[in-house]
Amino acid sequence: MEKSKITKWHHAYIQNAYQELEQGYTKVQIDRLNINAKNSKVLDVGCGPGNMLTALSDDNPKLLIGVDTDKIFLQYAHDKNESILEHTTTHPNFIQGTLPTLPFQDETFDIVTCFLVMPHVPDDEIALTELTRVLKSGGTLAISGHGIGFPIRYLKRFKFKPLKMYLASFIYLLTGKKLIKNTLQNPRQICKILNQLGMKIKVQVNKRVFGCIATYWINATKREVIPKATQ
Ligand SMILES: C[S@@+](CC[C@H](N)C(=O)[O-])C[C@H]1O[C@@H](n2cnc3c(N)ncnc32)[C@H](O)[C@@H]1O
Repeated sequence: MEKSKITKWHHAYIQNAYQELEQGYTKVQIDRLNINAKNSKVLDVGCGPGNMLTALSDDNPKLLIGVDTDKIFLQYAHDKNESILEHTTTHPNFIQGTLPTLPFQDETFDIVTCFLVMPHVPDDEIALTELTRVLKSGGTLAISGHGIGFPIRYLKRFKFKPLKMYLASFIYLLTGKKLIKNTLQNPRQICKILNQLGMKIKVQVNKRVFGCIATYWINATKREVIPKATQ
């Protein structure tokens, strides 16, 4: 994979992600959403440094694929997983790609995960449609994102970032366009879109700050298409 320059931000993100993996928090997130990847074909969209895939490899899945737009994360995720996973474990493959245009055929995966990526996609509905397209009937889609309460705890530390998030969300609300990255979502709206796409919400966990949703996790199942009775 082509070598690229790692920034301070990448460095901090990677460090935090692998600390969460070592401390078992990543596994907690997987368990919280009832994800079991045994014998499954799994796609992680916006995989970042790949820590979620490292954790999922424990379940011995059939196939693990990580997709991200960022070459630096992909390069790190690939090298890290090659160095820490045992030979007998399923090693993830990493592919550069951008939601909402995933380079896979319809109904390819049993499990599709997409954590903390929705704030960055240009349109929630188009992104969710693409995620469900590549999911098999009966398969599981697991997503997470930030709600309106997320920036509250950062108000003191990063004065500009929380304000930027609120501004981005306000613009999205008014125009339906994500002109600035890092929008906050209303999980109720996300669930509504998922329902319209034929998904059944199985699990929803919300973490709140001062009563407002800071982070949400959703597990939804793609409804099986019941074949019409033969006449
Ligand atoms: C906040 S990080 C989350 C990383 C990882 N999923 C996690 O939970 O730690 C967001 C990731 O999404 C990627 N990303 C942003 N927009 C994307 C898009 N449209 N398609 C694919 N990946 C995207 C970024 O490069 C970044 O790695």
